[in-house]
Amino acid sequence: MDSIAYVNGSFVPLSEAKVSVLDRGFLFADGIYEVAAVLDAKLVDNASHLARLKRSVGEIALELPESLQRIEEIQKELVARNKLESGLVYLEVTRGADTGRDFPFPKGVKPTLVMFTSVKDIVNAPAAKTGIAVITVPDIRWERRDIKSVALLAQVLAKQAAAAAGAGEAWMIEDGKVTEGGSSTAFILTQADVLVTRQNGREILPGCTRKAVVKLAEERQLRVEERAFTVAEALAAKEAFITSASSFVQPVVSIDGKPVGSGKPGPMAGRLREIYVDFARATAV
Ligand code: PDD
Repeated sequence: MDSIAYVNGSFVPLSEAKVSVLDRGFLFADGIYEVAAVLDAKLVDNASHLARLKRSVGEIALELPESLQRIEEIQKELVARNKLESGLVYLEVTRGADTGRDFPFPKGVKPTLVMFTSVKDIVNAPAAKTGIAVITVPDIRWERRDIKSVALLAQVLAKQAAAAAGAGEAWMIEDGKVTEGGSSTAFILTQADVLVTRQNGREILPGCTRKAVVKLAEERQLRVEERAFTVAEALAAKEAFITSASSFVQPVVSIDGKPVGSGKPGPMAGRLREIYVDFARATAV
């Protein structure tokens, strides 16, 4: 059965949810998106996602067509209408559809706001038990990866290469260091039991899950270093894992076919996953 989507003020069947071919999201990737997890029919860490949405649209001078409060109401209504227990809410805002194709910002055009949901059992995902293989690819993205832009062609190519290699994620490499995953943040646990993840900056998306995991780890007296690391360091590490709204915490067992640690999901990734799931359930709205 068709699920319900939201398009510019209306709730419509997903198959009928449409925007113009002149929409600037379609023509120029002139838009911003967010993905929030749903657990027990509630939104996970949504304040973080909405704060990042506000920041991203601000960075490209795009005005939201609705207040953040109203956006959350719409997200919740969509979850309710779709009777979504576990999955994701996708949200996209673009600079709207002008009467033609002009590069500069159009005047007097209302931004497009769309949302839809997908069903996904993130907590019981098989990859949480088996771990995932990762491949590495050069990071060919633009220089403002801190903006959650819908310009995702580089990630599409990276994740397609991963899929073709039977891997679950691609880690992107720049200047010999890992930036992040195609749609996730990269972490390692060193032999000295230090959690390492790249510092926020223009080179990576500031992950909401990353932020929560770093905080939860530090609250438990785990040492966290926010710095770039190499693939060689990851291969010499005890463990590696990724974080994202769509996977929470997921162990990485190999990189480019070489095992990380024991080549099996590590205990720290497992523990942090449990801690994150507890946090997600306890704080979901
Ligand atoms: N991606 N880095 C990139 C490039 C991402 O696209 C994502 C999320 C993350 C993790 O961010 P967060 O923890 O806030 O989800 C890091 C989403 C899930 C996606 O594109 O589907």
